[in-house]
Amino acid sequence: MKKMIVIDGGPRKNFNTAAMLQKFTEGAQSVSKDIEVKTVRLYDMQYKGCISCMACKLKGNASHICKIKDALTPVLEDIAQADGLAMGSPIYFSEVTAQLRALLERLIFPWLSYTDFSLTAPKKIPVVLSYTMNANEEQAKDIYRCMSIIESCLQRGFGQVEHVDAYNTYQVKDYNRYELSAFPEPIKRAWRDTHWEEDLQRAYKAGQRMANQII
Ligand SMILES: Cc1cc2nc3c(=O)[nH]c(=O)nc-3n(C[C@H](O)[C@H](O)[C@H](O)COP(=O)(O)O)c2cc1C
Repeated sequence: MKKMIVIDGGPRKNFNTAAMLQKFTEGAQSVSKDIEVKTVRLYDMQYKGCISCMACKLKGNASHICKIKDALTPVLEDIAQADGLAMGSPIYFSEVTAQLRALLERLIFPWLSYTDFSLTAPKKIPVVLSYTMNANEEQAKDIYRCMSIIESCLQRGFGQVEHVDAYNTYQVKDYNRYELSAFPEPIKRAWRDTHWEEDLQRAYKAGQRMANQII
């Protein structure tokens, strides 16, 4: 049995990010019954980001897995054993959400050697990142810049990172109820009608690709 972990870094259970990750999961599961997909919802959990305890860098007792014991510990252990990983997040202020950011700190800092700045992940595995956002593809360049350091760590550690992002998403179901005039609904609707199904299909295919790669 091969194991994939899907990390949902968004707070809304039925919106864009969750939908992209759901399609990714369906794609993976369509490939084989021998793929187990575990979904983790970070907003249902209580934990902090890195607290700089430096326990992962103790002389003679260093660790590539964060030593803090809390709700995130089993998730980090699962990631260390996983054959594939997908992480999704809405974009908040040009970055991933605070919950996902906290996980990434705890995931990556223990990989980092303060001897030679090498990065050692427990395993090389394929990774898919799925961001959803108001931005269009051009505006998203700023977001990719903001995320570039952490993503280059993921790339160096895991070896393979692919993006399956959704631009210009619907932020609410009913635009009439909110003051959101900077995002006129007709423009949103036109984009959604022509892109959203395609975005979901890309997520489905990414799930299939990952499953085929690891099976
Ligand atoms: C606190 C907050 C900050 C946001 N910041 C950005 C941003 O910087 N850039 C952007 O393109 N969208 C931004 N958005 C919009 C969300 O990224 C977008 O609606 C996303 O698809 C929501 O994902 P969800 O439907 O899974 O909750 C922000 C939304 C919120 C609530």
